Amino acid sequence: MRAQLPEIRRYGTAAVEAAAAAIRAGGIVAVPTETVYGLAADARDSRAVARIYAAKGRPSFNPLIVHVLDLAAAEALAIFDDDARALSARFWPGPLTLVLPLRAGAGVASLVTAGLDTIALRVPAHRAMRALLAASGAPLAAPSANASNAISPTRAEHVAASLGAAVPLILDDGATEAGVESTIVAGRTILRPGPVTAEMLRDVLPVAPGTTAHVSAPGQLASHYAPRKPLRLEAVTAEPDEWLIGYGAVAGDDTLSAAGDPVEAAARLFDSLHRADASDRARIAVAPVPEAGVGVAINDRLRRAARR
Ligand code: TXA
Ligand code: MG
Repeated sequence: MRAQLPEIRRYGTAAVEAAAAAIRAGGIVAVPTETVYGLAADARDSRAVARIYAAKGRPSFNPLIVHVLDLAAAEALAIFDDDARALSARFWPGPLTLVLPLRAGAGVASLVTAGLDTIALRVPAHRAMRALLAASGAPLAAPSANASNAISPTRAEHVAASLGAAVPLILDDGATEAGVESTIVAGRTILRPGPVTAEMLRDVLPVAPGTTAHVSAPGQLASHYAPRKPLRLEAVTAEPDEWLIGYGAVAGDDTLSAAGDPVEAAARLFDSLHRADASDRARIAVAPVPEAGVGVAINDRLRRAARR
């Protein structure tokens, strides 16, 4: 039982303006694309992106796809080679996502890329997502708008049923066209099959399905950001050679959230690990983070970082 329901607004100028205002205020909005409904936030705002994870109850920080209006906006965030130019010229706008080297100074929150030095980008074709991109002026990070491990939503009602009041506003523009998530290509490897088929891609480039690159499966992303230094979990005080990342009452050299807010902590996680790695201390210690809400995802990432 949900205490509250999300607001569902039919696509139109007023609804798009309301959605864009929510994005500009650091909020999240569910919006249709030609593939599935996405749960969108400003990709430059780490707290807003953390709200996506919190709403979905994601068990781990998978890197997210960033949506932009056109090639120029994409090139501001990533470095394109000839292959990427050929694919984007043929299939954008459309259901193709390209994994590309992240451009230095792109300004995308590290939580979006899960600390990777690559970024997944696509230029969507759907009028509602395009209108939201234009009205908000923001690159939009958006995974599918469903609770973690649930089926991807192709209608506004699916989003409402899956996420309930966790999503305040759903832009409703009927059923999506593709219904399955976009094809993801990295270099000449298909990481995820989708509406742009291998045959269609091979018209442009000799691509091959990826066998080892199923990064979406939890724990499978070998290149997930991990600090170079040893990491100790559940630390309440620091040893002399440790950089302590605090949380709540545990103050450290740095803190994920002095207020003990897991959403803020998620937003700061990857940046805090980067700062710890760059510090003058040989080891890293992290305060306990409660295993609840988006804290589950934080602990999943911390445990993986500690395992290395
Ligand atoms: O159709 C779609 O792509 C939908 C709509 C909303 O656009 N979005 C979507 O996002 O499916 P999501 O978050 O469910 O899928 C993102 C996937 C990740 O699980 C991962 O497999 C891949 O994109 N990905 C993102 N960034 C990556 C990166 N830097 N390197 C490799 N894979 C990446
Ligand atoms: Mg998904």
